[in-house]
Amino acid sequence: MRVVSGIQPTGNLHLGNYLGAIVNWVKMQDEGECLFFLADLHAISLPTDAAELSASTREMAAALIASGIDPDRAVLFNQARVPAHAELQWLLSGTARMGWLNRMTQFKEKSGKNREGSSIALFAYPVLQAADVLLYRATHVPVGEDQKQHLELARDIAEKFNFDTGTETFILPEPYIGKTAARIMSLRDGSAKMSKSDPSDMSRINLADDADTIAKKVRKARTDPDPLPETMDGLEGRPEARNLVAIYAALSNMAPDAVLNEFAGKGFGDFKPALADLTVSVLEPVSERFNMLRKDTTAIDSILEAGAEKAAVAGAPVLADAYRALGLLSGR
Ligand code: TYM
Repeated sequence: MRVVSGIQPTGNLHLGNYLGAIVNWVKMQDEGECLFFLADLHAISLPTDAAELSASTREMAAALIASGIDPDRAVLFNQARVPAHAELQWLLSGTARMGWLNRMTQFKEKSGKNREGSSIALFAYPVLQAADVLLYRATHVPVGEDQKQHLELARDIAEKFNFDTGTETFILPEPYIGKTAARIMSLRDGSAKMSKSDPSDMSRINLADDADTIAKKVRKARTDPDPLPETMDGLEGRPEARNLVAIYAALSNMAPDAVLNEFAGKGFGDFKPALADLTVSVLEPVSERFNMLRKDTTAIDSILEAGAEKAAVAGAPVLADAYRALGLLSGR
């Protein structure tokens, strides 16, 4: 089992990233060989500030370590230090079809009405993402629901590349998507996912938020006046309520129905303080570690450098196979 996944180092690590992906990354460290990276090459698909990008890449590395990623057990690195990602992306660009990329919902969302003014990187973004996982012959890719379409594309690219070249260069990666927290929604709008790019900070809980801020955000989260039902089926048509129950379930490692069993008949006046306490108790130790680690930029840099060296070694044979499969005389 080889586990590979990435996170963009823009903005803060929020509860959606944490519950939707990072918690699974941490668990999978015990189950297989893991490579986790900061997707800084992906970040430049939207306008970025150079100083901010390098600072937030280090910060995100600190946040991952604080969350439980152990650089001695998992390879932790930033994509830009391993040129094979960008190289393989180009090799895969001969295989990926315009029509496939045109269907990607993330491109449609992020480009909006400004399709013509969007960067080529934003359009080709999923090809780089395919390279990220195919480079290491990943078998499992732990992600939130929103990345499912990109991983299906990675499988399509791998399959077509293998078929066209008559080789077995790539392994088809399986997305690993948890059940309870696959899609954590905004605290302000139950129809939008919790996201780094939401202009309202009240929409998300950040790893770096202090206890008072977390309690305030939970208290102000949008809900409805009805009491909680006995089962999840009873939350049909109540997306905000469903989201808060899912967050509680994921943070407490309980099944959502078991959470409802405990709170059935109670309103949000009772549920929200319990959720706020639970959130603080889970995030506080993570945020304390984060605040210590983020100061030691030298230590983070050496972790990322060592991780990149290991990742480069792991990816080299696959990149060489891809060059060979295409008949490119790369000298590798
Ligand atoms: P990114 O940086 O947006 O998010 C990192 C991880 O967090 C998950 N996630 C969520 N899960 C549940 N609820 C939410 N509201 C929520 N928001 C984010 C994402 O699904 C993701 O798993 N393109 C990727 C980064 C990437 C990548 C890769 C991932 C680049 N290359 C290769 C896997 C494999 C992204 O922008 O994730």
